[in-house]
Amino acid sequence: MSDADFIKLNKANWDEAAKVHFEDPADWYQIGRFLEGHDVRCLIDQQEMGDLSGLKVLHAQCHFGLDTLSVARQAKEVVGLDFSPVALAQAAELAQRTGLSDKARWVESNIYEARAVLDETFDFVYASWGVTGWLPDLAAWAKIIASYIKPGGRFYYAEGHPCAFILDEIDGHLRPSTPYWHRDPIVETADHSYNESSVQLENREVHCWNHPLSEFMTAFLSEGLVLEFFHEHTAVPWRMFPSMTMGDDRLYRFGPEGPNMALGMSMMWSKPA
Ligand SMILES: C[S@@+](CC[C@H](N)C(=O)[O-])C[C@H]1O[C@@H](n2cnc3c(N)ncnc32)[C@H](O)[C@@H]1O
Repeated sequence: MSDADFIKLNKANWDEAAKVHFEDPADWYQIGRFLEGHDVRCLIDQQEMGDLSGLKVLHAQCHFGLDTLSVARQAKEVVGLDFSPVALAQAAELAQRTGLSDKARWVESNIYEARAVLDETFDFVYASWGVTGWLPDLAAWAKIIASYIKPGGRFYYAEGHPCAFILDEIDGHLRPSTPYWHRDPIVETADHSYNESSVQLENREVHCWNHPLSEFMTAFLSEGLVLEFFHEHTAVPWRMFPSMTMGDDRLYRFGPEGPNMALGMSMMWSKPA
């Protein structure tokens, strides 16, 4: 199968997951809180992205736009880009219900083909949590992301840590189960999505790539971006391993007896003016 075939299969999974996420029986996405006016981005993103007032923002792989619209409440304007028409229709509905339609635009595209449909630059580009695992070519993704940043603009990226992604929890122990360096996709079959829902998915097969830390650094440095900070986190916004529990801050972590290890990472890059 080609990379394009893998992306097509992943898209079927995301179109279906978007429906399940929008119904959100366990209130994992906090759509109600968002509609009440709250910022429902992951707390790490809220604390690290800084003040976005007055900025033109691109949210890459925006899913159904909850984070995009949380940002729209403070930014001048936002563009949410995703390849799932199902997710983007939901995003447009949320924008309408919250009076944010004038500030938000939605672009449907495979990220690798985005330049053909979105040809402009932004003060701030944003992508976080569950974004690059679906992408076969990280360097090509970084090139497209960098092309959207204005000189003097910034890019914030947060993601599961590649060293944690190679592990599985088996009988309460973390064991390496996938290679750190690989080219072929890892095929995963998930009956349910990560929003703690019991709805059975039909399009259960996804194709993922674990991109090593050096690949991230090389990809962004090759585009001439400058690293402002790099942080590692012992908490992430989804149940990465079964024995993790969610805290009051809605982040999942191990208990005090659990492993002391990096589960997530975040970084801010800037493009020289
Ligand atoms: C985990 S979600 C994004 C995380 C976001 N923080 C959220 O939960 O709202 C991943 C998104 O990436 C999108 N996606 C995956 N592969 C893509 C591709 N090749 N081009 C564009 N979007 C893609 C999916 O449709 C999905 O909406």
